[in-house]
Amino acid sequence: MKIQLTTDSPLALEADLLVIGTASTTKLSDDLEKIDRAMGGTLAELWKDEGFEAKSGQRVKLPARGRMKAKWLVVVGIGGKDAVADARTIAHAATKASSRQKSAAIVLPTVDAASVRAAAEALIGGAYEYGDYKTGDRKPKGGLKSAFLLGADKKDRALKQALHEGTVVAECTNLARDLVNAPPNDMHPIALADVFRTEAEKLGLKATVFGKKELEKKGMELFLAVNRGSAIEPRMVHVAYEPEGATKKVAFVGKGLTFDSGGLCIKPPKSMDTMKCDMAGAAATIGIVLAAARLKLPVAVHGVIGCTENMTGAAAYRPGDVFKSLDGKTVEIINTDAEGRLVLADCLSWVRDELAPDLMIDHATLTGACMVALGNYRAGLFTADDDLATKYAKASEVADEKFWRMPLDEDLRSSLDSTIADLKHVGGAYGGSITAALFLREFVGKTPWMHLDIAGPSFLEGAHGRAPRGGTGFGVATGVRFLEALGAEG
Ligand code: BES
Ligand code: MN
Ligand code: ZN
Repeated sequence: MKIQLTTDSPLALEADLLVIGTASTTKLSDDLEKIDRAMGGTLAELWKDEGFEAKSGQRVKLPARGRMKAKWLVVVGIGGKDAVADARTIAHAATKASSRQKSAAIVLPTVDAASVRAAAEALIGGAYEYGDYKTGDRKPKGGLKSAFLLGADKKDRALKQALHEGTVVAECTNLARDLVNAPPNDMHPIALADVFRTEAEKLGLKATVFGKKELEKKGMELFLAVNRGSAIEPRMVHVAYEPEGATKKVAFVGKGLTFDSGGLCIKPPKSMDTMKCDMAGAAATIGIVLAAARLKLPVAVHGVIGCTENMTGAAAYRPGDVFKSLDGKTVEIINTDAEGRLVLADCLSWVRDELAPDLMIDHATLTGACMVALGNYRAGLFTADDDLATKYAKASEVADEKFWRMPLDEDLRSSLDSTIADLKHVGGAYGGSITAALFLREFVGKTPWMHLDIAGPSFLEGAHGRAPRGGTGFGVATGVRFLEALGAEG
């Protein structure tokens, strides 16, 4: 989508849609007042008839019939208290109000950098539709192609930069959505690794891809155990963005299970049918690293994804098997469906030892238990570092994504004790997202670390708020905000 800044007046700009917000049906803004007058003063009547109460996200659409330059007027309900949230609501509604319309002019309640960025994110994100596998007439026509943000001077450098930032974040979020939505027969471990490498190299970043032989040579037995039942080779990809003068180094690690059948502890069909989503952590990691590079953030950002399927082939790993982690600890396998933590454990140890970052952050669709605890729309955040938890929570608020800090309860640690090995990889019946996090913690050593369990919000059965059905790209916007804030600390 092409988004332009313009100081043209709402009534004079030629576009298919003119989109404006209102928090009230009785007290109108000056802009809306003017538009209503031009349209013959019919809004009050229309609203009454349509039951429009200016509730956030509610919208009415009417033809302009030459009474202004735009062809249609769309009025969107907004909260009226938070200009940035309202910019998002209006921009998102614009994408949903366009059926055949290709261009929209948007009136923002406040024209500043934060609102411009929010509008850009909501426009590009809202126009997202996954159509790669539809053919002929069934292929989505792809709604809005262009948008104008009114009252924004295109020579204003801060606004231009905000537009750029919003565009990059939304495009990288949409890429993560595409990767999750792609079917697992095509988006297999080798393909996923290829996307990260190719996209990174396009930006001039260094990418290293490790195949099965290399993982064997390193001794990543936990990672390889998960891969045993699959006919497709595993891949680990490392991408480095290292700007000159960076004083901080953050490594993102992503769970890249391109399909999780559960392995021998096989999932029932109803739990398996969405398991192409099990690489959403890798997708978020890819999105964040590419966005950081495109935005030229002054922080070194590394991305490592562990890609494999969890399948039931003749060589599949079994409950009772014991494998040695890259870290040297022996692990007794309990349930082959708890595969993500095994892949991540070896990746985290590798990152700790080979990259020695100041901070490691993993994204993973790790546990159903996290969805039981927090619902579908919120991710679990685990870290021992209070300051980091606070900073991430702040970033998530600005990014409009929901996280909740979860405890790393020491009481549950003993549930990972094994009678025959150093550790078992699954704890007791309760607190499953916590014991999963405690297992990961065994492999991070002294490196500051945060684990984000995104099993719930990274894939949705139906659209919710600004998140589309299917892959949502959850985590990219917050990760970028966090890195921006970290870079600004100097
Ligand atoms: N990939 C799943 C977690 C998941 C569930 C993600 C639903 C998205 C939606 C993970 O590998 C898994 O199967 N976890 C098990 C762990 C259990 C066997 C200890 C779970 O949560 O049931
Ligand atoms: Mn599983
Ligand atoms: Zn899984």
